[in-house]
Amino acid sequence: MATTKTTAKKTTAKSAAKVTESKATVQTGDKKKILFVASESTPFIATGGLAEVIGSLSKALAATGRFDVRVVIPLYSDIKKEYRDKFTYLGNLYVHLAWRNQYCGIFSYEKDGVTFYFIDNEFYFKRPGCYGYYDDGERFAFFSRSVLEIMPFLNFYPDVMHCHDWQAALAAIYLKTNYCFREEYQFIRALFTIHNIEYQGQYSLDLLSDLFDIYGSYQYLVEYNNSINLMKGAIECCERFSTVSPKYAEEIKHAYYAHGLDPIIRNNEFKLCGILNGIDDVSYNCALDSHIFANFTPDDFSNKAVCKKELQSMLGLPQKPDVPIISMVSRLVSHKGLDLVTNIIEELLQEDIQFVVLGTGESHFEGFFSDLARRYPDKLSANIVFNGDLSRKIYSGSDIFLMPSKSEPCGLSQMIACRYGTVPIVRETGGLYDSIKPLQNGYTFSNYNAHDMLYVIREAIADYKNKKEWTKLMYRAATTDFSWGNSAKQYESLYLDMLK
Ligand code: GLC
Repeated sequence: MATTKTTAKKTTAKSAAKVTESKATVQTGDKKKILFVASESTPFIATGGLAEVIGSLSKALAATGRFDVRVVIPLYSDIKKEYRDKFTYLGNLYVHLAWRNQYCGIFSYEKDGVTFYFIDNEFYFKRPGCYGYYDDGERFAFFSRSVLEIMPFLNFYPDVMHCHDWQAALAAIYLKTNYCFREEYQFIRALFTIHNIEYQGQYSLDLLSDLFDIYGSYQYLVEYNNSINLMKGAIECCERFSTVSPKYAEEIKHAYYAHGLDPIIRNNEFKLCGILNGIDDVSYNCALDSHIFANFTPDDFSNKAVCKKELQSMLGLPQKPDVPIISMVSRLVSHKGLDLVTNIIEELLQEDIQFVVLGTGESHFEGFFSDLARRYPDKLSANIVFNGDLSRKIYSGSDIFLMPSKSEPCGLSQMIACRYGTVPIVRETGGLYDSIKPLQNGYTFSNYNAHDMLYVIREAIADYKNKKEWTKLMYRAATTDFSWGNSAKQYESLYLDMLK
């Protein structure tokens, strides 16, 4: 059997989860088995960055040839029909959860070397959207229990079960409180990745056995502040846990960022690490993207002017090539730093700029931008929709991308903007801090302060006038390596380390 060498990383004395260089030998044909457990994945269903990471990281790991990567998500009725029609029905079983006994159909689909499984139960998942129902706890408990129950059916017991966010937390909890006592499950290691610590899956303690089917003797694992906290439970039960940038892994040890979980994070920091997300650089490629008005490359940005002109015309803004367009593609919620923007926008609009917003969210922000667009029709365009096609037209057609988040576990938009030669201005937090370096590929500010932000925006507007230097900055932004290559290697090292 042929043998391939690969680079792996192992723990240091300082932090058990810190990744350093070492070597591991992987036998071809003896791939490590990784099962992603998540509530969404591109290209099937997406409400945010989580889905992009599940879709693109699984693909990048499979592409190494060293992993058998499979992903399991619920079969929501919103999964696009073009895909649904191609799924293969594998069979069904019944899943017990406390007194419940629910049908669980299993469908599968292969894409880019990754096997996707879909858990079918119409009572739980035949509804519009993914979340926001009164029984979300029960829906994702059923989903998580199903993940463990389908393993014998599929005859697939992963080496690492990689659970993402609170919706998949119970898979790690059930593994450690129940299944690992069975022979086939005993070697499965659990990795839990926090994409956003704000959403923890908190429920009344009364539901412990009746809904979540957790024995009283394990209450201590999931109990936090007199409630059930599923994210806390997964952190306690997993062998390792991670976040989606190194900076965020540091930040969540502090109360300002941790939404109450900082003591738990600090107690478990020996098993924590942060790995920066990548983006799908084939999909986000200004030279090939068919959604944008004209293609261009970092060596020749001339067609970016066409993208800008067409964008201005589409959004009803005056076609002024030399006026910088500052854009935001964001959920309109306060942790994205919207209060900073609302604070200074009238001042900013006194400058010779155009401002474009795309996104939906809290109604007071939606109303605020719609109102501004009415008052400044020649300067501001508010697009209160979620529209992937338009987002690409905005990324490619604008000059400056604003992302002043209060907290940002990783953030993908700043990387996507860079790929289209649109220079980001970010606050130095989480993945924004790790991906954008001042004057290297963007602008940054540190304090969560509206006028600090305005100062940096004005700096960028002034620099924009120096076309030669600005083009160099665009080039550096567009050629920054945000591919999964490096991050996938770090996950690979983490998995191998967990399997020692
Ligand atoms: C969440 C985070 C975002 C991150 C994404 C993918 O949506 O808020 O910062 O990029 O997950 O990990």
